[in-house]
Amino acid sequence: MTIENALFWMNCIKCDTVFKENEIRYVCDCGGLLDIKYDYDRLNIDIEQMKRRPLKVWRYRELMPLKKESKIVSLNEGGTTLYCCENLAKILGLKHLFVKNEGENPTGSFKDRGMTLGISKALELDKKVVACASTGNTSASLAAYSANARIRCIVLVPSAKIALGKLAQALIFGAKVLAVKGNFDDAMHIVEELASRGMIYLLNSINPYRLEGQRTLGFEIVDQMGVSPDRIVIPVGNAGNVSAVWKAMKEYETLGVIKSLPKMCGIQAAGAAPIVKMYETGAEELVPIANPETIATAIRIGNPVSWPKAIKAMRESGGTALAVTDQEIVEAQKLLARAEGIFVEPASASSIAGLKKLVERGEIDSDEYIVCITTGTGLKDPDTPIKSCKDEIIQVSINIEEITEKILGEKHEEKPQITVSL
Ligand SMILES: Cc1ncc(COP(=O)(O)O)c(C=O)c1O
Ligand SMILES: [Zn+2]
Repeated sequence: MTIENALFWMNCIKCDTVFKENEIRYVCDCGGLLDIKYDYDRLNIDIEQMKRRPLKVWRYRELMPLKKESKIVSLNEGGTTLYCCENLAKILGLKHLFVKNEGENPTGSFKDRGMTLGISKALELDKKVVACASTGNTSASLAAYSANARIRCIVLVPSAKIALGKLAQALIFGAKVLAVKGNFDDAMHIVEELASRGMIYLLNSINPYRLEGQRTLGFEIVDQMGVSPDRIVIPVGNAGNVSAVWKAMKEYETLGVIKSLPKMCGIQAAGAAPIVKMYETGAEELVPIANPETIATAIRIGNPVSWPKAIKAMRESGGTALAVTDQEIVEAQKLLARAEGIFVEPASASSIAGLKKLVERGEIDSDEYIVCITTGTGLKDPDTPIKSCKDEIIQVSINIEEITEKILGEKHEEKPQITVSL
């Protein structure tokens, strides 16, 4: 179904009901999630012209569901590096491995891609108060874009489990920070209720406009590689990003930019892996996990809202869903840092841990072109590496002989070794 004369509109993924682009709603009356649809014929998309613009989120502005360019709130997001990781590829026995490092975005995570559009849309819809529930990165991003847009921002975060760097960001950007005595799922439930009471404009990834901005991550990967990769490995929490990237790939196929599609591999932490469970059992409905637990606080989510879109992405693409343990996440964080010089937060390292596991299981062909997405910078959460590397600190006195001995001594004379068990 379409809406007459509209360039874009919202569409229920469950019952196909359509809603106008400016209607304030986040789900259909049937409970289905909403997706943005476009009349591509009338959008006048010129891919070659887009490619001549700088590699940034707004390079794709004809594919962004915003009517007034004057409402754009941007902090120069997107255009993150796609690293060709030859060292890591060698260690894992692969030939073509890339890491798309989303930690390079203005607030240090991929969330900025969705937030630039989300806040711009909020202004276009004349919203004055925005809010989100967050494991940390969404709150940091929403707070920054709200500050720039000069609108009120409220964030609900789990009181105990949020990385300090992320909390610092939300605070310094001037958001009203409410630390909920519960987990992310509790905070999400409350913020949805506030939205249904009309108190706030909700900017979690259940808001379909957020995901439209995030899908530029997929467009960028293709623009940087010139083709679609064979496989994309991506951390999954609330399950919005994997859905957004898959949507981008299918759109680029529809628009004739790519001829093949990647397998989408979603990685969850073992203590917070309801989508993996669903994937493994072939279930049609998600069974939430009551008390999710993982060191990767960004993906410590037991009841991911975008699961219907995410499971479709993995199944439709012939990909997979996989769980990794905290131990594997910590090792992968170290491995990526030491093999390539890329420092990512634990949730982001889950994509590397997931890739390693897929290789170990023999599920990956060494010729495949693989992109691992690392979603946020390691500097947000220094606690984890400080703990995992603390035994490596060598205490010394102010004594040149002692220091020389430590540098040249038996234990430290070898070149640093990266150990992986395959
Ligand atoms: C660093 C990081 N990685 C991964 C995710 C998961 O993304 P999504 O909730 O879209 O699945 C998040 C979400 O907060 C995150 O902050
Ligand atoms: Zn519906």
